[in-house]
Amino acid sequence: MDIEKTPFSLTGKNIIVTGASSGIGRQCAINCSQMGANVILLGRDKQRLDQTLNSTTTPLKHLTYSLDLLDYSKVEEVLKDIVSQKGKIHGLVNCAGISTTLPLRAITPRKLDEFLHTNVHGGIQLTKLVTKKAFISEEGGCIIFITSVMGAVGEAGKSLYSMSKGALIAGSKSLAIELASKKIRVNCISPGVVETPMSKEAVYSQDETSLNQIKSYHPLGLGQAEDVANACIYLLSEASKWVTGINLFVDGGYTAR
Ligand SMILES: NC(=O)c1ccc[n+]([C@@H]2O[C@H](COP(=O)([O-])OP(=O)(O)OC[C@H]3O[C@@H](n4cnc5c(N)ncnc54)[C@H](OP(=O)(O)O)[C@@H]3O)[C@@H](O)[C@H]2O)c1
Repeated sequence: MDIEKTPFSLTGKNIIVTGASSGIGRQCAINCSQMGANVILLGRDKQRLDQTLNSTTTPLKHLTYSLDLLDYSKVEEVLKDIVSQKGKIHGLVNCAGISTTLPLRAITPRKLDEFLHTNVHGGIQLTKLVTKKAFISEEGGCIIFITSVMGAVGEAGKSLYSMSKGALIAGSKSLAIELASKKIRVNCISPGVVETPMSKEAVYSQDETSLNQIKSYHPLGLGQAEDVANACIYLLSEASKWVTGINLFVDGGYTAR
């Protein structure tokens, strides 16, 4: 199949993927590369970013930057560098994030700050910069937030994580309306449990009974990073040119129960 001729092609598009050093972000960077994009991989761990880069078939086409997304002045410098090397940006996948299972009694102001800063501020500040006239393509662009089913439904111990993901789901709808006149589409993808380093470290993965319970919530079984990456391709490509302000559940049936 000639990728360039399908509406799902990302040929020639400059796509930034955060969290590209691990899990879903890593797979998203690899799949965007396969679909023809020039990918800009962001993450903190340089070695794991390079591993992702070398897993693409065209590493020389792509750029990596090791940075903390909460270092806002550095983020702006990086964007200037990206645009000077590759030209303006067509898409951003906000995938970097952290997760936890914590009962209400253990939620401290510091924990709340940590989650809101990493999961909300990090992506929103980057989106604010990327959508500036100096950085976004004149043709328009596409912003994706990787949220979670936990932003829409609940589980015990998930309130902190849910608050951070729910904030993005709510905010992205208003952003979709605000940015539509600039031809910028804004969408969320809400995965169920996907097998990545994050879910392997989660408390439910530490004993068989809890893991089996989590699996039973997913009629199609647990997800793979490529399930989310493929949804990103759709939302980044022309195939979804009339889609904005949605929250796409990619959850193996979790929210259908
Ligand atoms: N796995 C799941 O079951 C699941 C389900 C629903 C939603 N999600 C969401 O999907 C996204 C990716 O999850 P994952 O499972 O792929 O997790 P992961 O394997 O733990 O990867 C998380 C990524 O986020 C990056 N990151 C975290 N804080 C950062 C910061 N301050 N600055 C820059 N990068 C930062 C990490 O970079 P470094 O490693 O380089 O520090 C890493 O690349 C997250 O937003 C998560 O909430 C995951």
